[in-house]
Amino acid sequence: MTRIFAISAFTLVVFYMSCKKETKNTGEGIDSTATTMPVKIKTDVFGKLADGQVVNRYTLVNKNNVEMQVINYGGIITTLKVPNKRGVMEDVVLGYDSLSDYVKETPYFGAIVGRYGNRIAKGKFTLDGTTYTLAQNNNGEHLHGGLKGFDKVYWNIEEIEHAEGPALKLMYTSADMEEGYPGNLAVEVEYVLTDKDELKISYTATTDKKTVVNLTQHSYFNLTGNPANDILSHEVMIQSDQFVPVTKSLIPTGELKDVAGTPFDFREPKKIGLQINDKDQQLVRGLGYDHCWVLSSSENIKFAASVYDPTSGRYMEVHTTEPAIQFYSGNFLDGTLTGKKGIVYNQRHGLCLETEHYPDSPNQPKFPSVILNPGETYATTTVYSFSVK
Ligand code: GLA
Repeated sequence: MTRIFAISAFTLVVFYMSCKKETKNTGEGIDSTATTMPVKIKTDVFGKLADGQVVNRYTLVNKNNVEMQVINYGGIITTLKVPNKRGVMEDVVLGYDSLSDYVKETPYFGAIVGRYGNRIAKGKFTLDGTTYTLAQNNNGEHLHGGLKGFDKVYWNIEEIEHAEGPALKLMYTSADMEEGYPGNLAVEVEYVLTDKDELKISYTATTDKKTVVNLTQHSYFNLTGNPANDILSHEVMIQSDQFVPVTKSLIPTGELKDVAGTPFDFREPKKIGLQINDKDQQLVRGLGYDHCWVLSSSENIKFAASVYDPTSGRYMEVHTTEPAIQFYSGNFLDGTLTGKKGIVYNQRHGLCLETEHYPDSPNQPKFPSVILNPGETYATTTVYSFSVK
């Protein structure tokens, strides 16, 4: 259970005064305006948006010194430092050093994606006889919420108290017809960095008009800790017997295909690079893996996938309440983006495991429903857990 960590102005002042002397600003990445409160979450200014809005960076550190940084813009996770098998902490997510780089161009590095993660055919869907038209921002299809999806909006963030470790609540209300979607949608996302080295993400949303929702997180992982390396020798396992085949523009054909006997079979751990260049029609269409795997339909949290990097020993598991997971092998990274520490992001140097509903569900009556009605609460949870082997 979580409880809002409401700090009144008075207690804030008293608290600050009482600990001012003991706190030290290490100066490392933290500017002189940093709030040095003796709480688990440090805040500093990451940058300013064109409209003057200040984007803060929140640094969460758990009891094992695992560290995560999050910014208001897009709810982006900019940094996630976890140990390798020798205990060395390294950053395992792709991203940029500055806000302006995120604003300029990003393939959703570390961001919250919504209202609809993944694609909707031709950017159209119909609810109760009304057809809604969304941006066709990806080869004639709608992708990841449109031109200004949840990855590009300003999220209000507050620290919350959580029994399992440092935690943030991110809040955004998407107005009726924003990006063409009906209904005022109030969204809350909770990021908890647990003391068991898990990143626990819980999403909730409510609407005042029937709408569609499919929220996800778009972190790109490279478990080597150095994205100058590719991810082809990472070993992936996906707990799934079927995947969702797609057309040339990556819209589901409508069928579900058995993974058995195909390069999409990850039921046993397998190096990503083993079959990624096979002359398989689906791999050719995705430029590699960029597909949705069907998980058990249970709404309980369940094991979905794992990734292991034999060189660093880092091992990540994904558990989720969602019915599917998109495994994207970073095929569209093409060396044109330079990320943190000046490292160029080449093709397949990062991978995403986006827990979600199937793509184009609003137009596929046989897929699990993504409709949210007034009075209902959308609620999903995904946990990324880190350890070494
Ligand atoms: C998702 C999609 C990919 C690609 C990336 C962003 O993972 O499935 O096709 O669009 O986002 O580049």
